[in-house]
Amino acid sequence: MSQISKGMLRRRGFLTQSAAALAATIAGPAFVRASTLRKQLQVAAIGVNGMGWSDLSNVGSHPAVKFVAFCDIDQKAFEKADAAFPGVPHFQDYRELLTKLGNQLDAVIVSTPDHMHAPVAMLAMQAGKHVYCQKPLTHTVWEARQLQRMAEKSGVTTQMGNQIHSAREYRLGVKLIQDGAIGKVREVHSWVGVQGRQYCQRTDRPPEAPVPAGVNWDLWLGAAPARPFAADCYHPFKWRDWQAFGSGALGDFGCHILDPVFGALGIRHPGSILAENGGTTEEVWPGPETVTWEFPGTDHTTGSIKVVWRDGGLKPPADLAALPEGRQLPAAGSLFIGEAGKMILPHVGMPQLYPAEKFDSYKLPDVQGSSHWHDWVDAALAGKKTTDGFDYAGPLTETVQLGNIAARLPGQKIDWDAKNLQCSVPAAEKLLTKEYRAGFEVKAV
Ligand SMILES: NC(=O)c1ccc[n+]([C@@H]2O[C@H](COP(=O)([O-])OP(=O)(O)OC[C@H]3O[C@@H](n4cnc5c(N)ncnc54)[C@H](O)[C@@H]3O)[C@@H](O)[C@H]2O)c1
Repeated sequence: MSQISKGMLRRRGFLTQSAAALAATIAGPAFVRASTLRKQLQVAAIGVNGMGWSDLSNVGSHPAVKFVAFCDIDQKAFEKADAAFPGVPHFQDYRELLTKLGNQLDAVIVSTPDHMHAPVAMLAMQAGKHVYCQKPLTHTVWEARQLQRMAEKSGVTTQMGNQIHSAREYRLGVKLIQDGAIGKVREVHSWVGVQGRQYCQRTDRPPEAPVPAGVNWDLWLGAAPARPFAADCYHPFKWRDWQAFGSGALGDFGCHILDPVFGALGIRHPGSILAENGGTTEEVWPGPETVTWEFPGTDHTTGSIKVVWRDGGLKPPADLAALPEGRQLPAAGSLFIGEAGKMILPHVGMPQLYPAEKFDSYKLPDVQGSSHWHDWVDAALAGKKTTDGFDYAGPLTETVQLGNIAARLPGQKIDWDAKNLQCSVPAAEKLLTKEYRAGFEVKAV
């Protein structure tokens, strides 16, 4: 790693003292409850509205789950969770929750905005808790590597919240490629309709507005540099546009749509990244973009492989797909180009094999889907790993966030040394990590 990154890491090492001290005060790891663990999983949900509601209702439908705490920075967020699971204690600050309830807790769900995934998930794993964490696993490349290391070191059961990973459609797409239905794969094109900035319709900071009653803005900011609250621009949902909090269209959909590409091909770390877009400011993510990664070859590719991402209305050129008359590319998904055919895997849709006449009578393998949330609970109870643990989700998220680094330096090809977390472009290397506000640091592992 270069001097710049070493300096940043040293500074972070200093800053993490307070987070480390906090971790030391959090009561005992999950194994202290080993005797009851196989019967019941005591879970805290952190971020309970939006996707948090979906996560907690799906995890909570597992008969072995008991919620012991709900945590949200917005007092109004608890309504649905309380109606479905009455009597569960409320917290606003995840650090207080982990400190006070550490002994009663086996697992946490992290469904906050992206910039707070790593601070919460790291603290939970340091305390020995199993973690289900929303996608993208982290806000930076460095954080993804640290969470992966901590998951391995702690031995807890982890799962990233890209739930379509466990759906029949994506599993079938992965199996078809691995069965060699279209032969070895030459290149992949993935796309989504949304673009990096579209929810706030601005490229500069919005005007300050009063913080709504019941919202703890300081806790919402968490690790991010302080800035005033603004109406209808950050909390809820619209934080996605902003580099300080979200991860743009690539971060929002990359961990979904690129997941079966990773799963099918067995790729892990790209060797280079190049992004093209119309430019951006330091505040928001770019508009329509193309990001190209080159990966080393695997058993399922013809050689080193190019994966191309497009968003904001850009799609692969029509001649690449060469679809039959009257067929169109789906709104979002991936096109796998193999030596013996092509496969389109729509985002949450059944795979389509081409040329159609060649695959007319192709017998699809019998593949079933399952509940991504219940799979995590079952694995945690059994002390096992999931298929989407941080060992898998880490490199997938690193790849997505490397794309977001390239997106801020359009037109510059970045060579990536994954082993040493090193970029060929110094400006890119600075973006591997970020500064943390005191009290919300992420510990280097
Ligand atoms: N897997 C999926 O299909 C899917 C879909 C949507 C969102 N997501 C992911 O889920 C996460 C949340 O997205 P969203 O759209 O629900 O956002 P949101 O802003 O609508 O909801 C976030 C919730 O977390 C709460 N919150 C914010 N900061 C918090 C903190 N520090 N501590 C505790 N609670 C906090 C908010 O009050 C809100 O209730 C993001 O990482 C997003 O990428 C995943």
